[in-house]
Amino acid sequence: MGFSDDVKAAAERIAAAPEITIISHIDADGIASEAILSLAISRQEIHVRSVFVRQLEPLTMPQVPSDATLKIFTDLGAGQQNLLFERGFLENEVLIVDHHVSQPCDRQYTQVNCLPYGHSRMSAAGVSYLIAKQLDKVNIDLAKIAIVGNVGDMMARETCGLVGPARDIIVEDGVRHKSVEVRKKDLNCYGTSTRPIHLSIAYNDDPFIKGISNNPEGARQFLKRLGIRQQNKDGRWLVWEEIPVEDRRTIISALAEQLIANGERVDRLLAETYGFPDEIPRTPLRNAQEYATMLNACGRWSKPQVGSSILRGDRGIAYREGEHMLNNHRAIIRNLLQYIIDSGVKELEYLQYIHVGGRYPDTIVGIGAGMALSKLNCAKPILVMCEVPEDTNLTKVSMRTNERVVEKGVDLQQALSDASAEYGGGGGGHKIAAGAYIPRTAEQEFVNRVNRILGEQFAAACPDHR
Ligand code: C5P
Repeated sequence: MGFSDDVKAAAERIAAAPEITIISHIDADGIASEAILSLAISRQEIHVRSVFVRQLEPLTMPQVPSDATLKIFTDLGAGQQNLLFERGFLENEVLIVDHHVSQPCDRQYTQVNCLPYGHSRMSAAGVSYLIAKQLDKVNIDLAKIAIVGNVGDMMARETCGLVGPARDIIVEDGVRHKSVEVRKKDLNCYGTSTRPIHLSIAYNDDPFIKGISNNPEGARQFLKRLGIRQQNKDGRWLVWEEIPVEDRRTIISALAEQLIANGERVDRLLAETYGFPDEIPRTPLRNAQEYATMLNACGRWSKPQVGSSILRGDRGIAYREGEHMLNNHRAIIRNLLQYIIDSGVKELEYLQYIHVGGRYPDTIVGIGAGMALSKLNCAKPILVMCEVPEDTNLTKVSMRTNERVVEKGVDLQQALSDASAEYGGGGGGHKIAAGAYIPRTAEQEFVNRVNRILGEQFAAACPDHR
């Protein structure tokens, strides 16, 4: 059986189910997966309802109903099959649609997971889309949502664009459907639909450009020197997507020259980006990255259904609420980032860590950790701990690293799932980004244990590493 056989078998099971419950994750990929599957299932005239959880763990398991519906776990489930087993779910009650590392389990739940087939750069929304398309070709309109989910889950980040089936099948479908516009050599920069150009360039530090990155005034002067018109006649700042193509080329060439002059590599300056021409210009829905942030803002602040409604086309109440969530999300992430930088991290031999207490919700600390990493020592993974408001006996742990460290043998998923299991907690995720819940009393021992595991990983991949 290959991956496409698994997709086909999943579509057949869905089509035969009288009623379905989707259990999904509250991040951009989880919300996108839920929207794709629930739209595709209701188009089959099958009754479907959705439950969002911040993670599948003992605390959230009671949210999963015990009823006669087929339970589709999406963007989670693969790493928590033992919880499904303990709950007594039988094989015929469960379908897992995931892209996370799978956990061995005594019961063989049916799973559609791209990871064992080597598709490591496709997210759960990608897998959900392939199932939806298998259910009915009419679902090709959902390719756009799948792209948002994939980009939101960082599937395009290291490779400066989507690759593998996410690119060859999903992006191509979106282009064919005319709801997706591919910009092949675009500036690798966030905020191209909503931020004034100088802010968009200044807030970007991948690649870091001396005099421009983290320097909005430097970026503004740089654009002025190039003769780029930055405001319209009413004084409103222009955004990247609305300036003429020639101006975009001028800026990109000048940024490349600047990097070369500083002896830096230019390979991350350009990326393939995905725009949505049918959305209103200068809104976060115009490109995949900003759209995904809006979904994350909704989900991580307990309103995943708002994100789902936006994906289904609600541009009224849900969209306005999404905008509000996004502004709030950005402000708090900025605050968290500053808190990490100002407080400083403690460094062990193989990791750096910080405890942010109860200041920030456990659903966003991982995002802050990822952003802080580029401003800290990138060679060491970062571990952030925080309190869990619903259970004072627990601590949430989030870890982030980058591709270069993963290439040196680091696997955060392995480190966190092994270490948390030793202390009676649970964790999972990916090599580059992972999370866990652990008993609060074990915090310091846990950090030391993860440090030792990382040391072993470095040593196993490169015996000379020190
Ligand atoms: O919560 P955070 O953003 O740090 O999660 C990073 C990754 O780890 C996500 O892919 C999430 O699904 C996964 N994770 C997990 N088990 C946990 C916590 C997070 O698999 N207990």
